[in-house]
Amino acid sequence: MAIKEVTRMGNPVLRKEAEDLTKEEILSEDTRDLLQDMLDTMKAESGIGIAAPQIGVSKKVALISVPSDSERYPEAEESPMLFIFNPKITVLDDEVQGFWEGCLSVPGLRGFVERPRKVQIDFLDMNAQEQSIVVEGFLATVFQHELDHLFGKLYVDRITDMSKLTYNEEYSKFVLQQVNTEE
Ligand code: NI
Repeated sequence: MAIKEVTRMGNPVLRKEAEDLTKEEILSEDTRDLLQDMLDTMKAESGIGIAAPQIGVSKKVALISVPSDSERYPEAEESPMLFIFNPKITVLDDEVQGFWEGCLSVPGLRGFVERPRKVQIDFLDMNAQEQSIVVEGFLATVFQHELDHLFGKLYVDRITDMSKLTYNEEYSKFVLQQVNTEE
């Protein structure tokens, strides 16, 4: 289909709760086109996930696909490509873990965010079938970050220590440097 322009922080579509889809809508031709646009756009931007509001569509669908060789997130474990509709998130472990996150809608920046380390996600898949998965570690963060987009949230809202919001270049220069020297 097409590579779409990614909506950026400040666009109201990123700040409102997206709409649930009916099973008929999930199976519709329009939704097939939307999924292809999301996939094309995510690949073009080298992302590991994308949500419909990020291409300007206020519907509750997100795509997560962590390749084994992500340039943006080399520490990430691989995940199968998954389209998630109408998700409900349940925290299974209150203990938090922190990762440096970036977002296609907040270009040029990285921020350190702490989130629950283990969550369950109940959702409908692209065949409108009910599914439930449990994710932990970095993948738990990826899922929570993407699904936040469907509820009008951005990762910057969840940064508790604003000294840990950086530009990519400074992240490479000062944060990665620090991590390396601590090893
Ligand atoms: Ni994002």
